[in-house]
Amino acid sequence: PRMPTEQLDPFVLIKDEVSEVTDRLRSMVVAEVPELTSAAGYFFRAGAEGKRTCPTVLLLMASAISMGIADGLENKPRARHMHLAEITEMIHISSLIHDDVLDDADTRRGMDSLNFKVGKKFAVLAGDFLLFRAFSAAVSLDNTEVVSLLATAVNNLVTGELMQMSITPAQRCSMDYYLQKTYYKTAALISNSCKAIAVLAEQTTEVQALAYQYGRHLGIVTAPILFAMEEFPEVHEIVEQGFDDPLNVKTALKYLSKSQGIERTRSLAAEHAKLAASAIDDLLDSEDQVVLNSRQALKDLAQKFMRRTK
Ligand code: FPP
Ligand code: MG
Ligand code: MG
Repeated sequence: PRMPTEQLDPFVLIKDEVSEVTDRLRSMVVAEVPELTSAAGYFFRAGAEGKRTCPTVLLLMASAISMGIADGLENKPRARHMHLAEITEMIHISSLIHDDVLDDADTRRGMDSLNFKVGKKFAVLAGDFLLFRAFSAAVSLDNTEVVSLLATAVNNLVTGELMQMSITPAQRCSMDYYLQKTYYKTAALISNSCKAIAVLAEQTTEVQALAYQYGRHLGIVTAPILFAMEEFPEVHEIVEQGFDDPLNVKTALKYLSKSQGIERTRSLAAEHAKLAASAIDDLLDSEDQVVLNSRQALKDLAQKFMRRTK
């Protein structure tokens, strides 16, 4: 039985626990030096936290794969899952802080970027500190597989960023290259962390794989212009050159509007949302209402993400 839509809003369903995670994040980023504490805590201040998609997805996933009875005792697994949500959010923020340094960005989340606020040297160190803090918390979970999944995610983030920086004209035109880079940059952290949720819950490898697949499909988005290129070979040269030149952007947009690029992107995004949902549907049946609501919320979230596709 479906509950009223309002109660199933993924972000509402899990609001209190996400606030708890947010509170704890503030206390976790305290460093020896006050300047480092305030720089590392910049995106954890009240009003600066953003939508907190990572913790929301991870806590919903934890509930979605929950076995009910086993989770009862002292609610220990839940506390561990919340720690993983904190760790993932710290890695995420660390990557955004470093990204803004690399991109020389002045803004993030509609406010000053950290590098704009405190300079890039401080920002780099704040990002490093957050990464340290995330991994020291991960070590405390006392599960080497979880630490290894998080390490993989960071490696993928760095690799994705490097793939973007070092891209050759031929690679710009490759859908495979684009999808690999996109997976690394936008989906690897959430997919590996979703799997880590299942590992912490001592779930079977099947459930671990489904959790991973959900995260992977949730994170992937595609480039309409690469589809347009298949229809209009002229676009090839423009894509090869990249989009630093505003004239290239203008020409590409013109071809894009004539092409099926947008529709094909939408349908691919819809496909990913469907695959994310089917990973959830493939979980073992449950009669627990919390489990069922969490699964529905994860599927709703995949739909929401799909509509956000540019
Ligand atoms: C945003 O991309 C950037 C990322 C999602 C990942 C950035 C990764 C690194 C800088 C590697 C270092 C990682 C860690 C964990 C320290 P974007 O610039 O395309 O998008 P945006 O600026 O509009 O968000
Ligand atoms: Mg950027
Ligand atoms: Mg960037």
